Amino acid sequence: MKQNTPIPHEIVDEVLSKSGIKSVGKASIREVKRLINEIEAASGEKFVRMEMGIPGLPPCKLGVDAQIEALKNGCASIYPDIEGIPELKSEMARFVKNFIDLDVNPECCIPTVGSMMGGMAGFMTFARTRKERDTTLFIDPGFPVQKQQHRVLGLKYETFDVYDFRGEKLRDKLESYLKKGNIHSVIYSNPNNPSWICLTEQELQIIGELATKYDICVFEDLAYFGMDLRKNISKPGVPPYQASVGKYTENYALLISGSKAFSYAGERIGMLVLSNHLYHKEFDDLVPFFGTKQLGRAIIYGAVYAISSGTAHSAQYALAAILKGCNDGTYNYIDDIKEYAEKAAIMKRLFTDNGFYIVYDKDIDQPVSDGFYFTIAYPGMTSDELLTEFMYYGISAISLGITGSERTDGIRSCVSLVPRSMFPVLEKRLQIFKNNH
Ligand SMILES: Cc1ncc(COP(=O)(O)O)c(C=O)c1O
Repeated sequence: MKQNTPIPHEIVDEVLSKSGIKSVGKASIREVKRLINEIEAASGEKFVRMEMGIPGLPPCKLGVDAQIEALKNGCASIYPDIEGIPELKSEMARFVKNFIDLDVNPECCIPTVGSMMGGMAGFMTFARTRKERDTTLFIDPGFPVQKQQHRVLGLKYETFDVYDFRGEKLRDKLESYLKKGNIHSVIYSNPNNPSWICLTEQELQIIGELATKYDICVFEDLAYFGMDLRKNISKPGVPPYQASVGKYTENYALLISGSKAFSYAGERIGMLVLSNHLYHKEFDDLVPFFGTKQLGRAIIYGAVYAISSGTAHSAQYALAAILKGCNDGTYNYIDDIKEYAEKAAIMKRLFTDNGFYIVYDKDIDQPVSDGFYFTIAYPGMTSDELLTEFMYYGISAISLGITGSERTDGIRSCVSLVPRSMFPVLEKRLQIFKNNH
């Protein structure tokens, strides 16, 4: 095993031992990134980098132009309204109608510092809605930072891996948590980071029905909005639409990110959209913390105010222009992001041709779509063994173990930072890997 690896063993061994990291599989995404940087520097070899979920495309030009214009007009010196600028709020409401087919009032649409902050503000507030309900339920696998948010806020969470509970099986599993009475919210991402599974309409309906029955909030994290490219949702106001639990319950809060769909991660802009019902809902227990019973006001003038007093002014103009382009049908963001799906199809094939298998491979009876991430494993290896071994082959990814997945074999690969020009290198390295194993 020690022969013929693309990166010499001595170099990898030395960097690994100096790093103090005991298990590559348990390392955070940022730690893996640092490790790879060091191996690259020491070996002079470029890695096929699949560890970070950073957009690999240029930012949406509509946004950049509008943002520059807004800055030139002096918005940088003025505090933006905490609830968001009116033109953005109305474009958000239009966007939700045009692309999800849900009716929300502009007041329920709150720009946030990335959807990261939308989640944080939401969790902080929902955890205070009813004294006896102090726990969030994660339908995993999921985005590790949202659990980190819970830890730093001192909030409780429970989790289960949805892998074995797809379809009708989800109902009993979910209900087993909800009936305990301690859950205030459920969160999942759809398409899912890391597995790229997408919940089916049947599953969304189950979640929606139970959310209504147990009066909990569903945080639907649409960080990868429209990126299940098995259906093209690019036309405003015409089906198909982005699938959403909002079709099945009034108790929803949507997290929509500007980062991936519009390649606007650097400006940290996202949207928290509450249903009209939730926005106006009142909870007595909110008062000591937020000075109001009304949930929407508590989130905006309590949580968002306390965290950051709103969102960067110029980025709001950027997002308003992007959404306006989408809503008017003059900008088709799907054209920009289909590159991810095309790359994923090729990269998955390179892996499966060389003995790997896809871990989260199906949405019930359909293969998962091609998109930003895919999950892979190699027969007979744990994810930790595979990730460590990949260091010698110049390939990096992260373990599914840190995402709440119960699969001990899988790793997550992100396609965005792998240029097509590296595909031949990836193929060669995977062939060597296969020959050595
Ligand atoms: C599932 C999920 N939610 C939220 C985020 C964060 O999005 P934002 O950049 O808008 O804060 C990400 C980013 O990778 C993500 O994958």
